[in-house]
Amino acid sequence: MIVLGGSASTDLANKVAKELGEKTGQIEIKRFPDGEKYIRVHEDVKGQDVALIQSLYRTPDDYAFEYLLIADTLRDMGAAKIIGVTPYLAYARQDSRFYPGEALSSAAVAKMFEAAGTTSLLTIDCHLHRLGDVGKVFKIPAKNLSAMQRLGQYARDTLKPKNPIVVGPDEEAEQWAGTVAKELDAEHTAFTKKRIRKEGETESKLEMDTGDVELQGRDVVIADDIISTGGTIIQAVKASKRKGARRIFVLCTHPVLANAALNKIKAAGIAKVIGTDTIPSPISTVSVAPVIAAALKTGQ
Ligand code: R5P
Repeated sequence: MIVLGGSASTDLANKVAKELGEKTGQIEIKRFPDGEKYIRVHEDVKGQDVALIQSLYRTPDDYAFEYLLIADTLRDMGAAKIIGVTPYLAYARQDSRFYPGEALSSAAVAKMFEAAGTTSLLTIDCHLHRLGDVGKVFKIPAKNLSAMQRLGQYARDTLKPKNPIVVGPDEEAEQWAGTVAKELDAEHTAFTKKRIRKEGETESKLEMDTGDVELQGRDVVIADDIISTGGTIIQAVKASKRKGARRIFVLCTHPVLANAALNKIKAAGIAKVIGTDTIPSPISTVSVAPVIAAALKTGQ
């Protein structure tokens, strides 16, 4: 198998290739003076399976378009399989027309990836709040991997919370809290989150309910898929503090960290926030490379 990294995920691709005992394939990505991208694949991919790793963060349109150019090139060069690896799959949250005329972005991205020649797709802790299954987004075989076990192991071995309880800040996050809790041999729960986005606005207001869980004097470990604006985590931290939590640790797969989210979360008073390298950031401590390599080995 040839592992190629787009410019969003060069480091991660190197780590995945290393896990597989391979070298990363050579690809040249530059810009023409007018801003257009220049792509050249320096590998003979004819008849080969290629894993193309490109996470879609911060400038998702740019990285997605680059992905399409590379995938299309690989197909023309005769690659046998093009396994798209998008650790952070942008646009997954716009999986519904909340208001008439809105783009159904998750479906549109899936169609473009398929049209460019992607034969299967791997992603990680994809936002599937309403759809539940990444197979409902793509027609090609698609698999949603998880970083939560590795985050849980990190929490157990490094953060070492005392009398911990793992909290998902909303109902969808309960699954991730459960996985982390298993590693910590702890109980878990989920808060209830209501997000209100008014027509015409892109930011939403949040309301959070903790239910009747006992947090007094306990270390709380919050586990979520994405930290974007930080609004969800900040509300969860505030709610935990109101209930007397001792220390609060935050784990997330995708540190999107939009709008100075990291500073805001730290200011809310947490002991530590840990993310993964699906997105490079100051908190990308845990690597998902072993998770991706394991899935590639089993022949996705
Ligand atoms: C949403 O339900 C997700 O699981 C995350 O909780 C959310 O995307 C985080 O976004 P933000 O940091 O902007 O609250």
